[in-house]
Amino acid sequence: MTADEERSLLHQAVRLAEQGHGTAEPNPLVGCIIVNQSNDIVGEGFHERFGEGHAEVNALLMAGTDARGATAFVTLAPCNHQGKTPPCSQALIDAGIAKVVIGASDPHEEASGGIQKLKDSGVEVTLLEDELCCELLAPFAQKFTTGLPWITCKWAQSRNGSLETPSGDSPWISSAESQQLVHEERGCIDAIIVGVGTVIEDNPSLTVRNATQHRTPVRVVVDPMLRSPQENAIFDSQAPTIIACKEGVNTSAFTACPIIQLPHTNGVMDLQPLCKHLAREYDATHVMAEGGATLFSHIFSQNLANELWVFVAPSVSAEEPIVNMNTLVEQLDTSLLHTDTCGTDTVNRYKVNG
Ligand SMILES: NC(=O)c1ccc[n+]([C@@H]2O[C@H](COP(=O)([O-])OP(=O)(O)OC[C@H]3O[C@@H](n4cnc5c(N)ncnc54)[C@H](OP(=O)(O)O)[C@@H]3O)[C@@H](O)[C@H]2O)c1
Repeated sequence: MTADEERSLLHQAVRLAEQGHGTAEPNPLVGCIIVNQSNDIVGEGFHERFGEGHAEVNALLMAGTDARGATAFVTLAPCNHQGKTPPCSQALIDAGIAKVVIGASDPHEEASGGIQKLKDSGVEVTLLEDELCCELLAPFAQKFTTGLPWITCKWAQSRNGSLETPSGDSPWISSAESQQLVHEERGCIDAIIVGVGTVIEDNPSLTVRNATQHRTPVRVVVDPMLRSPQENAIFDSQAPTIIACKEGVNTSAFTACPIIQLPHTNGVMDLQPLCKHLAREYDATHVMAEGGATLFSHIFSQNLANELWVFVAPSVSAEEPIVNMNTLVEQLDTSLLHTDTCGTDTVNRYKVNG
């Protein structure tokens, strides 16, 4: 098998792993493909649900005795520790796997050591540190190494960078298909953050609607002076909500939800403690910031954004936006991951570098 064929199988395993998004976290997403000596796929598996079988074990189950002498392509180094499930390195050895091609090493010290164990048992091991496999692992690795969840900033804009809803017709900038995609993602993540401006102007619910709800994201309002109307939809009982205000603000009149107080400098609140609070108290791996532009500009300047999902509608706003999102994105160091079409919108997904 050529190096390109090996990478292509690893990328196939990445696509399998992605199916675990929403159910496998806070564990990493992992995929595994087992190929016999004739290069036929005999086993496929991914980590489907937290606490249940790992990708390798699921792929080995499918392969059965065909695993003997075969090669396993796995997106993350097989674990070596007895956690909720037995070590995968031992399962691969016991099944008679001859070679393991690994896409990314494991930042988890307790789990690492699987590579050495495989080698010590005579299994050939190749570690590629493949870009797609590392991207797949990035949210887990970031949370594990820094205590910060993965922050995706998502918004809908006109072609000339405005977040303002066009007056007249629909209250939405983006297409129904784009809104559906966002609801599907909401059903897979742990928290949604918005600024108080959005809460006051749009009165959003920020719930998961008409989509599979694998988890219920906690709703988070960034509101320095607790200006949010307490009767607004975001404080209803559909999902938990917390509000972040400035340290020192009198909170006694605000009873709609739990409050976290954040340090601030010249009126700007430090959002990092909020993000760490979400990882620690809610075990949040994936957080989506849903605007508006003022909140985004603070998230960007505090280097907290990891990914951008930009839904660009075909419309052009008549007025020059006060905050032009096209300019904000140009000021960031980003790489375009991919561009899709969603209804009438173009969806650009960027990775924020550094
Ligand atoms: N198209 C879209 O995808 C989209 C999405 C969301 C919202 N929107 C639109 O955007 C508009 C609202 O945007 P906006 O920029 O005015 O408001 P916003 O970003 O929702 O909220 C901004 C306010 O949040 C507070 N804030 C946020 N981060 C802070 C920080 N780090 N430190 C201190 N304060 C912080 C400040 O409150 P104080 O003012 O109390 O200081 C700030 O003025 C609405 O018209 C809404 O429809 C569009």
